[in-house]
Amino acid sequence: NKHDYIRNFSIIAHIDHGKSTLADRIMEMTQTVSKRDLKDQMLDSMDVEREHGITVKSRTVRVFYQARNGQEYKYNLLDTPGHVDFSYEVSKSLAASEGVILLVDATQGVQAQTIANYQIAKENHLVIIPVINKMDSPNANMDQTRQQIIESMDFNEQDILYISAKTGQGVADVLERIQAVISPPAGSVEKPLKALVFDLHYDPYKGVIAYIRLFEGSLDKEKTLVFMATQAGFEPIEIGVFLPHMQSTGSLSAGEVGYIVTGLKEVQRVKLGDTLTSSADPVQEPLPGYKESKSTVFAGFYPSDDRYKDFENAIHRLALNDSSFRYEEEQSDLLGKGFRCGFLGMLHLQIIRERLEKEYGVTVLTTAPNVSYHVIMKNGKELWVNNPVNYPPFVQVERVEEPFSEVTITLPEEYIGDMMKLVTSRKGIFYDLSYQSNQAILKYEMPASEIAYDFFDQLKSISRGYATMDVKYKEYRTADLVKAEILVNYLQIDALAFILHREDVYHTASELVLKLKHTIPRKLYPMPVQVLVEGKVIAREDVPPLRKNAAVSGEKKSISKKQALLRRQNMNKRKMESSDIRLPQEVFNTILEMG
Ligand code: GTP
Repeated sequence: NKHDYIRNFSIIAHIDHGKSTLADRIMEMTQTVSKRDLKDQMLDSMDVEREHGITVKSRTVRVFYQARNGQEYKYNLLDTPGHVDFSYEVSKSLAASEGVILLVDATQGVQAQTIANYQIAKENHLVIIPVINKMDSPNANMDQTRQQIIESMDFNEQDILYISAKTGQGVADVLERIQAVISPPAGSVEKPLKALVFDLHYDPYKGVIAYIRLFEGSLDKEKTLVFMATQAGFEPIEIGVFLPHMQSTGSLSAGEVGYIVTGLKEVQRVKLGDTLTSSADPVQEPLPGYKESKSTVFAGFYPSDDRYKDFENAIHRLALNDSSFRYEEEQSDLLGKGFRCGFLGMLHLQIIRERLEKEYGVTVLTTAPNVSYHVIMKNGKELWVNNPVNYPPFVQVERVEEPFSEVTITLPEEYIGDMMKLVTSRKGIFYDLSYQSNQAILKYEMPASEIAYDFFDQLKSISRGYATMDVKYKEYRTADLVKAEILVNYLQIDALAFILHREDVYHTASELVLKLKHTIPRKLYPMPVQVLVEGKVIAREDVPPLRKNAAVSGEKKSISKKQALLRRQNMNKRKMESSDIRLPQEVFNTILEMG
């Protein structure tokens, strides 16, 4: 059986532990790409990935490995992202694999995300090969890392391999171990076609390209195919594998990983996690597919020019490629037509925005991000609010609940004091401190909104990059929250409203109006900027006029009825003019940065 010589596996690890570097080394050592062609980190090929130095998308490549017994094996390697915001990508790759390489960085040891990934692999009944990386580094602590792996996971000393993904030392043993312990894919070529769609991609010329793992049957260009969930039928235009670039092979069979060019142009007709089968001889039961991802951070995305149609297309196509990115249409008084988008975290938001700009050439205006609130009204009704605009008037609100998460922070002992200060300032509730080798493990419960904003960056900066964290959603809890509305020139700006904790409101509001004073474009007359909370103005600053304007000075003098009338009319005129207030992204950033 030719499938005896196929192995499908993923590389999983905490962020920066060296997955992409190992994938590169494997490609080089199997002569998949020549050293000359191997740009640093071949698989991190998107612009945003190179710039941030992180993996955002899972990648697939097929390599041929000549084992020590002389047998040639076909390896399908799936590289996965390490950052928590992209863990959905990891689960997708694991559904297409029989085994994983679990990498642990010897300079950092076992981290929160190492354990989380280990558990996902266990749940998927995958064979796990634990590998300690960066043995070449002067900061490597091999003994301690080995000890942590044995203590915190179910491994013996002889299971563990030692490598430097950078120099290639030890990688040959990893390649050999893969064919020895990971099982070949099960499944029969004779049965009807059953393939899992584990990724999607839109090509402007070829339409939707589906990345698939065949579990049963075979695939060639003769067959008419159908996606089971959407019932979209098509005749394949091209079938092939990743080397790592797409290479047409004309066919694929059970156990293999590859791609299929569908020619379908309507992205809504194809769904991630769907099962692909043949129209003439379909399977009865689809594959289990994926759990839907749950957005934790929401923000409005608007085109910053008038090319709405291009913007909409870009959103649709990007969502096809990143199924953890959610969107629905929304309308803003100030910004017009746009989308309310859901993300797995702030880094995810930032990456999506950059991808829209770089890959699709549209410019994006982003409103302040927020989490999803559960509002219980006095009349007994309940609503979920992920857009501050939909927050009901405060007099109707009985109470509000916000999401709480459990945060596990792993860090060297000397940073514990600073870390505790940081977490407490973010409303963290301490509940556990333990030690593992030289590392301290802190556990807190924290409002998800406090983690969502720039908590990760702060955590990194106070620990010189050593602290790592793992976040798990816990529950919704009652909190004292209010909605802050921003008025510019007496006009409520819907897109600037946000929800925050009452205890932070005065501080935040006074800082905000000061900042807005300097970022809102000036007009010929002064414009007040006010923050309104529960019907009261709690902070105000005036955006100074472009030029000194005699007509509006002397406002403080007492005035006659006639004068007052004139002033009101004048004010109405100003209100009308304020509808042409144009706010640059800078203004939204001001709120975004307030956190
Ligand atoms: P994400 O995909 O973003 O989670 O990162 P990653 O796990 O793919 O890590 P990556 O391969 O990007 O490596 C992270 C950093 O570690 C890079 O600066 C690499 O050059 C470095 N690195 C990787 N392997 C080794 C190694 O064996 N030795 C040393 N000294 N450095 C390494």
